[in-house]
Amino acid sequence: MIYTVALIPGDGIGTEVVAAVKPLLDDTAERAGFEIDYTEFDWGSNRYLQEGSMMPDDGVDQLRKFDAILLGAVGHPDIPDHVTLRGLMLPIRKELNQQICKRPTVLREGVQSPLRGYEGGDIDFVVYRENTEGEYADVGGREHRGFEHEVAVQSAVFTRKGTETVVREAFEAAAERDGKLTNVTKSNAQAYGMVFWDEVVEEVGQEYPEVTVERLLVDAAAMDFVRRPEAFDVVVASNLFGDILTDLGAIISGSMGLAPSANLCVEGDAPSMFEPVHGSAPDIQGQGIANPLATVLSGAMLFDDLGEVAAGDRLREVVDEQLADASAPRTPDIGGDASTDDVVMDLRARL
Ligand code: NAD
Ligand code: IPM
Ligand code: MN
Repeated sequence: MIYTVALIPGDGIGTEVVAAVKPLLDDTAERAGFEIDYTEFDWGSNRYLQEGSMMPDDGVDQLRKFDAILLGAVGHPDIPDHVTLRGLMLPIRKELNQQICKRPTVLREGVQSPLRGYEGGDIDFVVYRENTEGEYADVGGREHRGFEHEVAVQSAVFTRKGTETVVREAFEAAAERDGKLTNVTKSNAQAYGMVFWDEVVEEVGQEYPEVTVERLLVDAAAMDFVRRPEAFDVVVASNLFGDILTDLGAIISGSMGLAPSANLCVEGDAPSMFEPVHGSAPDIQGQGIANPLATVLSGAMLFDDLGEVAAGDRLREVVDEQLADASAPRTPDIGGDASTDDVVMDLRARL
């Protein structure tokens, strides 16, 4: 079997981790009896600086024919973030209808959490983040620029379809896991979108009597991610709240460099996109020390999505083994002094 994968390394450490991880994905695939046929796209900020756009006009359409997409990261210190992200990653998520962003938070053996008293195995939950609308709907405007009565409006849009899709997927996940769903909103302050969201959760929940639903306001949820992370199983949240909570999830499970992510198209036949939760990390770019494990684990989610779950499991296994081994190479973000390449080489040896 040969799968086609669009590779978009992007910017900063995105290019470093994708280049490093690619041979590991190939090795894993070969051992599992399939092949990956990559097409690499040089889209990103360097293209923007040379040609004035992050990707070609028909960029998103070029991606439609692939089985999956692997993205590094997007963002450049010399270009406003709303330009780079709205020129590349956000349109892919939206136009390929990747309505769901699935982000597991797992504290693995051998990894130190900044939370006192937590050890490997103590934290294991998954966030389902709405991924194409909500606070990222890109609806709004500015009037009277520069004047005293200037107004900027940034609206959040919640459609029944978009909300139901992510909520249902979260219930499905909870039913398969420990049967607990935490619904995160801000319905005390946002009486339209968030109250609507709560209603959808209640309605869809009727179909899942075996799932217990807990409601948390997002401010309290942020606190409880720190106070009692062990109590979460599946968390469902809007686009912005899910974004913020998953950086928190990444750090309580050890590092931004360990957190993977899947942007899933569950309706229609567009490809899903896999990427680490982290960004282009200009502060460590060019030093060869970016942690590649978030990208490795995103690759594992990509394999799952292709139906190659054994290959995904194998990758997660070697990552677990490596992290549990105190003498194995690890990057500085998780307390070591190894390079990106050292970590990947060690994983390849473990395969
Ligand atoms: P960031 O995730 O890039 O970095 C936050 C911190 O985590 C930094 O200190 C960084 O060094 C560290 N870090 C991140 N990934 C790491 C890794 N793999 N190994 C070790 N340390 C790691 O977030 P930021 O600094 O807010 O954003 C930088 C740029 O990336 C911005 O332009 C932002 O818009 C963009 N961004 C892009 C994506 C994406 O493409 N998916 C995600 C987040 C941020
Ligand atoms: C993420 C990132 C993006 C998001 C940014 C870069 C637009 O933070 O993937 O978590 O907010 O979705
Ligand atoms: Mn984010």
